[in-house]
Amino acid sequence: MEIVAILGSPRRQGNSDMLLDTFLKECSGVTGVKILVPAQMNIEHCRGCRSCENTGLCVISDDMQKALELLIQCTGVVLSAPVFFYGFPASLKAFIDRTQCVWSRKYFLKETFPPKKGFLLSVGATRGKKLFDGVQLTTRYFFDSFGCEYTGDAFFRGFDRTGEIAGCEECLAEVRRKARNFFSSLQSLSEAADGQSENT
Ligand SMILES: Cc1cc2nc3c(=O)[nH]c(=O)nc-3n(C[C@H](O)[C@H](O)[C@H](O)COP(=O)(O)O)c2cc1C
Repeated sequence: MEIVAILGSPRRQGNSDMLLDTFLKECSGVTGVKILVPAQMNIEHCRGCRSCENTGLCVISDDMQKALELLIQCTGVVLSAPVFFYGFPASLKAFIDRTQCVWSRKYFLKETFPPKKGFLLSVGATRGKKLFDGVQLTTRYFFDSFGCEYTGDAFFRGFDRTGEIAGCEECLAEVRRKARNFFSSLQSLSEAADGQSENT
């Protein structure tokens, strides 16, 4: 059971980093965790050329090819990122836009991908009711592009300073509880996949 964890903040040791770290510490049954940090990867912006609609391939060669394979082959994805102007930080948005070639493989070329489950962690400084609407919608459609079911989220308002969320025991307890549920739901997905491969 392989997990891909995406740290969407450009700030290391920040709030998203703390949330992801807390979540991953509950990962029982997981054989491998690959952590991707878009801000530290070589990722060009999507050019919107639409070439992938016919080929399923991106014309740009950079760190995304490897990342896309990991996303397609894994059992679960955890994305942790802050809100920047009611959306995601630019480096993460570039990463997400570049999954368009996988979206094309699914919707134009009718390819199916192994089932997987995803979870979103997000944090923002303010307290508005709609603070996480944008990132939640983007994540739903990002996950869907590679056959990943959006199974849940945890959102935290009012945290701005670096790593400040580490002092909120209630927040971390919520993350741990949701992580345990997430990893046990992955276990059943992985067992179902094993059963299927034994029967073929
Ligand atoms: C460029 C930028 C834009 C931001 N936009 C918002 C915003 O729209 N709403 C909000 O509540 N916080 C906003 N914030 C604050 C961050 O969401 C907040 O500091 C968060 O805790 C950062 O998480 P991190 O430590 O994982 O980077 C913004 C911060 C930056 C640097």
